[in-house]
Amino acid sequence: MKHTLLILIIVFAFLTPGKAQFFRMNRDSINQLNRQDHQLMMQKLGIKEPLRPGPSGNPNDANAANSDESKANTYTTLPDPLVFNNGTPVTTPEDWDKRKEEIRELFDREMYGRLPENIPSVTWKIVQVKDTLEGKYPVSIKTVKGIVDNSSYPNISVTIDLTVVTPSQGKGPVPVIMEFGWNFPAGFRMPAQDGPSWKEQLLEQGWGYAILVPTSFQADFGAGLREGIIGLVNKGEPRKPDDWGSLRAWAWGASKAMDYFETDNDVDEKRVGIEGLSRYGKAALVAMAYEPRIAIGFIGSSGAGGAKILRRTFGEQVENLAASGEYHWFAPNFIKYAGPLTPNDLPVDAHELIALCAPRPVFISVGSPSVEGNWIDGKGMFVAAIHAGPVYKLLGKNDMGIEEMPPQETNCSEGDIAFRQHGGGHTTGPNWPYFIEFAKRYFNKDKSH
Ligand code: GCU
Repeated sequence: MKHTLLILIIVFAFLTPGKAQFFRMNRDSINQLNRQDHQLMMQKLGIKEPLRPGPSGNPNDANAANSDESKANTYTTLPDPLVFNNGTPVTTPEDWDKRKEEIRELFDREMYGRLPENIPSVTWKIVQVKDTLEGKYPVSIKTVKGIVDNSSYPNISVTIDLTVVTPSQGKGPVPVIMEFGWNFPAGFRMPAQDGPSWKEQLLEQGWGYAILVPTSFQADFGAGLREGIIGLVNKGEPRKPDDWGSLRAWAWGASKAMDYFETDNDVDEKRVGIEGLSRYGKAALVAMAYEPRIAIGFIGSSGAGGAKILRRTFGEQVENLAASGEYHWFAPNFIKYAGPLTPNDLPVDAHELIALCAPRPVFISVGSPSVEGNWIDGKGMFVAAIHAGPVYKLLGKNDMGIEEMPPQETNCSEGDIAFRQHGGGHTTGPNWPYFIEFAKRYFNKDKSH
């Protein structure tokens, strides 16, 4: 399943309009360009020695990633979200407002990169409205395009692809869950699954959904960093050490989609959630951490670079993220932590990214280790969720209320951070009903706004 997904990611990254030149290139030449840009970033950072290589994702390889829990916790310190950089404790919600900015600055500088100040404006256009059925539900499908003003650098054009689906007989604005997703060619069907699809499950509630296509505005590889929204802002030049990476760019697209929702009378912009899987699970968490208008998050198998504690020696490692196949998700500065620095030197870790979502509800999802594998590190995400708890409590919300990782398929959703390890593979599929129940607690509480 994981491999199918990766193949789909690669195929659809290439099928995205505007990336025709990449479509004509073969994978080898893209990898070569990725490596060249990666090398250039290492030079800019003054890294002369080769980076430490990451472990292999194949459990049969001699250098397979660790999957032995007794060897996972090699770290000795974890940054405390409730202590200011100068060592003073954070004791009030007002303190947290200030501390949050310190944490954001560290994530900006060292990990995800900064949002540039001069990002051009986006004009949203509805290009098609179609009334049809999704399963048995009458829906209205809007195809929407966010056209980015490229007058500063006309060589690069950028368009954000968004599809918004709401019940046809919707009584006023409805909650919407936005997925970071794929732009499948007409007629393409995902493999059949039992029971109603996630889309039907949302429509059953009278809610809608939206699909935002990240690769429509920022490619998913390093060779694409001089194009897309990052390339447009940089006028086709390479990135600076604290420039944004694809995750932050994808999250920016989600913020722009929020601007659109504010203009769409079928969408209740106060009840919009975000969902994504894997690299898009990471993107969903980054989007929620930085965009206060997103009301709830469903973070699927986000692993390293998402909700998993980076200091844990289990599954995917910082060294994998910093290599030429994945560094583009982050600011160039992040490469330093695969040499000369180590993950222990990171001034932040994943629990603080979850904490930036507080007090808003977040549902953290992962599959079964025996089906999905250990690369994603479900326990690492559980531990991060635990360590985000004190921030939720400071803001008058509830943490998970447990400390030990429960057995698979236990739904930990008593608090405002929820966690569930389902029995399937690399998908959010089996957790949708649980996420929807969780979201109902918030979305159905007060329909008056
Ligand atoms: C790779 C990568 C992960 C990522 C995943 C995906 O496995 O190492 O970090 O989440 O791809 O997006 O499918």
